Amino acid sequence: MVGGNTGGGTATRQTLTVIGHRGARGHAPENTLLSLDRAIHLGADWVEFDVQLHPAGALVLLHDLTLERTTDGCGALVDCDFDTLRRLDAGVGQKIPTLEEALELIEMQVGVNVEIKSAGGTGEAVAGVLRRYVAAGWPPDKLLVSSFHLPELWEFRQAAPEIPIAVLLAGVPLDFAGCATELQAAAVNLSAEFADPRLIADAKAHGRSVYVYTVNDPAEMQRLQVLGVDGVFTDYPDRVPESLRRPRRATP
Ligand code: G3P
Ligand code: MG
Repeated sequence: MVGGNTGGGTATRQTLTVIGHRGARGHAPENTLLSLDRAIHLGADWVEFDVQLHPAGALVLLHDLTLERTTDGCGALVDCDFDTLRRLDAGVGQKIPTLEEALELIEMQVGVNVEIKSAGGTGEAVAGVLRRYVAAGWPPDKLLVSSFHLPELWEFRQAAPEIPIAVLLAGVPLDFAGCATELQAAAVNLSAEFADPRLIADAKAHGRSVYVYTVNDPAEMQRLQVLGVDGVFTDYPDRVPESLRRPRRATP
């Protein structure tokens, strides 16, 4: 999703890529197939979800290291056997999906941002799955793999150099977007709290797209668009003003 914004203050109308955060977290239980489906139907251009590697070898959609907040299970994900994990209720009867189930649901209707949450082989495992989908026809530019864990992201990059990556930042580094250059990342994904204009300008000057999380207020979306941001992660894809959106996809 390499964005088209060249910076603030240009005469051309710039649009924001709308990225559904954990699907459409404001409308459905996060990181579930229902949430992904909602995001697509609410007009998201992309969906983001969090992925962890379970000890049994499967990649599953889960944000926290523990199960309490989002399911009726308890304890650490890594301590839960896979069959038990798959029987948990992740909200309104939804199950914790695997990466493959998420991709099968999305079926290339929108772009996919896989956020790697766990380390210790997750990058390589995600690369293995995504490369299979790319080999089957999924365009690499409709995939983006991100992580706060930059060494794990590097492992992913080594295993799947054809798939774009994004560095996730939750602060303003001393060298601004320098880590994105080092990792040859296509994008920098910034926390809204630290969407510093110098950081945004540095990323853009080096050809990186900039996406900001998590933005649910339309006025803040507008402010970020003026700063030259390319897209926002939002729990409410339906809240993005029409004036900031790309032209809608044609309905089948
Ligand atoms: O990828 C953007 C955003 O999801 C990062 O933060 O904690 O919501 O996964 P978090
Ligand atoms: Mg995330």
